Amino acid sequence: MVKALVARAAGHALHVEDIELPAPGPGQVRVRVRAAGVCHSDLSMANGTLTAPFPLVLGHEAAGVVAEIGADVQRVAVGDHVVLNWSPPCRQCWFCSHGEPWLCETGGTPAARRGTASDGTPLNVTLGLGALAEEVVVPEAAVIPLPAGAPLEESALLGCAVLTGVGAVVNTAHVAAGDTVLVIGLGGVGLSVVTAARAAGAETVIAVDISDAKRDLAAAAGATHFLVSDEALTKGVRGLTGGRGVDHSFECVGRSATIRSAWRSTRRGGQVIVVGMGAKDDMVTLSALDIFHSARTLRSAVYGNSDPDREVPQLAEAVLDGSLDLKPLVTHRITLAEAPAAFERMARGEGARSVVVFD
Ligand code: APR
Ligand code: ZN
Repeated sequence: MVKALVARAAGHALHVEDIELPAPGPGQVRVRVRAAGVCHSDLSMANGTLTAPFPLVLGHEAAGVVAEIGADVQRVAVGDHVVLNWSPPCRQCWFCSHGEPWLCETGGTPAARRGTASDGTPLNVTLGLGALAEEVVVPEAAVIPLPAGAPLEESALLGCAVLTGVGAVVNTAHVAAGDTVLVIGLGGVGLSVVTAARAAGAETVIAVDISDAKRDLAAAAGATHFLVSDEALTKGVRGLTGGRGVDHSFECVGRSATIRSAWRSTRRGGQVIVVGMGAKDDMVTLSALDIFHSARTLRSAVYGNSDPDREVPQLAEAVLDGSLDLKPLVTHRITLAEAPAAFERMARGEGARSVVVFD
């Protein structure tokens, strides 16, 4: 039996429950989770914004230590420190063999059947992981070995928010020195975008949130300007960019309204990167003339258009050598029992990342 955070139905209160996980089968590993972040995608599944099966063990952003390996496991040994990967590429499908492993046909499935509740009910685990738990049992492809000495608390964030945010800047948008950047939504993902944009040499990074309380977090992550999201947002952004709008805007909320704001705040010929994951019935309307005349590109960044097996260790090295500072991202270190309150905080738009630290 291990403790795990379980959502029983959409919109219901979250509870820590005792769950039973299977022993690792061939090609699977059991990982003792040491740190796990609270990400908005978990909230979106728990509250019904994204469709998910229940009961559902939440969590998909974590790092830990390999505790047991099944038969034929090649990639890791007991005792290895690893980051969990919620979209492990198969390396065989069309997308994987065409250099787009983030679009793998089998990667990123919303949930998988795994384990049982104490009453015997079969459980589902978020994104094949269910990482807000003392332990997970996952395929070996879903663990990425960390370089020696990488701090597990910060490494946990590499598995979702940071890889997503940094990848969106570097791999999707190709932000270059001197560029102007807008980031809407300053949670773990948006703040990672801010950090990466500055690291890429962006001259102007305008950080935007509905909550004024994000101002200091934005500055700590390297934003050059902070604006509160309102009707006058586009005007504010244009005022800071010679009347044109930004070269790149990153939508890190997952709503049509903020996608529209990002679109309007981008210069002619610039690009809008949708990083947030919104609801399937939340429609974005753009006029045909506007699409033509603005000459903007609208695209999304899925898992930072990254190959996690290659890029997570690189990011961990950057954390180790001090070139990537993730400390400003972690605003709350909590226990698993405190995770339901962290979800409520996230729903109110407070803080950056809450990280559950297991002893
Ligand atoms: N305008 C600006 N900011 C907004 C708005 C809005 N209309 N609505 C919400 N926000 C802000 C919140 O105040 C919060 O600071 O967006 C931020 C979202 O942060 P988190 O809830 O911490 O979410 P995060 O984990 O960063 O994920 C962001 O990326 O991966 C996806 O599913 C995820 O869609 C989610 C997005
Ligand atoms: Zn996530």
